Amino acid sequence: MTVLLKLEQINAFYGSAHILHDLDLTVNTGERVALVGRNGVGKTTVVNTILGLATMRSGQIHLGSYALKNPRPYVAAQHGVVVVPQGRRIVANLSVEENLLLGAAVGRKGPWNLPEIYKLFPILQERAHTSGTALSGGQQQMLAVGRALMANPSLILLDEPTEGLAPVIVDQLADIFNLVAAQGTALLLIEQNMSLVVRVAERYCAMAKGAVVAQGRVENTRESLVDLENHVMV
Ligand SMILES: Nc1ncnc2c1ncn2[C@@H]1O[C@H](COP(=O)(O)OP(=O)(O)O)[C@@H](O)[C@H]1O
Ligand SMILES: [Mg+2]
Repeated sequence: MTVLLKLEQINAFYGSAHILHDLDLTVNTGERVALVGRNGVGKTTVVNTILGLATMRSGQIHLGSYALKNPRPYVAAQHGVVVVPQGRRIVANLSVEENLLLGAAVGRKGPWNLPEIYKLFPILQERAHTSGTALSGGQQQMLAVGRALMANPSLILLDEPTEGLAPVIVDQLADIFNLVAAQGTALLLIEQNMSLVVRVAERYCAMAKGAVVAQGRVENTRESLVDLENHVMV
């Protein structure tokens, strides 16, 4: 088992606001980990710290064996860690295909390329030359996932990928996440929809007040669902 991402004793800030407190989190090769917790506990700040969008004042981040001293989005991508950001952030002035190529530009060589992404999401091929932001919310999320895959990551961080989407789209995305994971890409799934978490994740880390306060295994069962929902409600 190799470490893809290891955060140790992270203290992170926005300006003088101290958001993450001695946070520890590890994702290993091929794992599917859910990061859960109420709104405002700091889940997105974990992602932002890895990308350098929040300031790490102490602690250590490792991307594989690489000690990350100066976090930047492209540095994470070069070391195989790619983010599907909360709110998707599709580039408005670019076509669907150009958005996908942007993912490849920052990433690594590997099995994912335009034809493979179009096999996974045929709708993106149909709409390849329309503006990325002309897509529906669900299609934009597919584009954001496709763009991340184009970087050939070993780990994808998915920040609330199903927020605001219809149940039928959430089902499609769950299948896609499982397929991507089955092909060996590790996932860190930040999610409020616990029925999605039990379908995709095998382990969870629960956050409160800027730290990971509980961890455990996830099963696709009613008991696991109730257990997870309790962690998010405390
Ligand atoms: N850019 C920012 N500047 C200052 N405070 C922020 C910023 N972004 C988020 N916060 C604060 O940091 C805390 C954690 O936010 P966030 O990581 O977005 O939580 P979550 O993703 O778990 O909902 C919240 O109290 C939020 O108000
Ligand atoms: Mg968030």
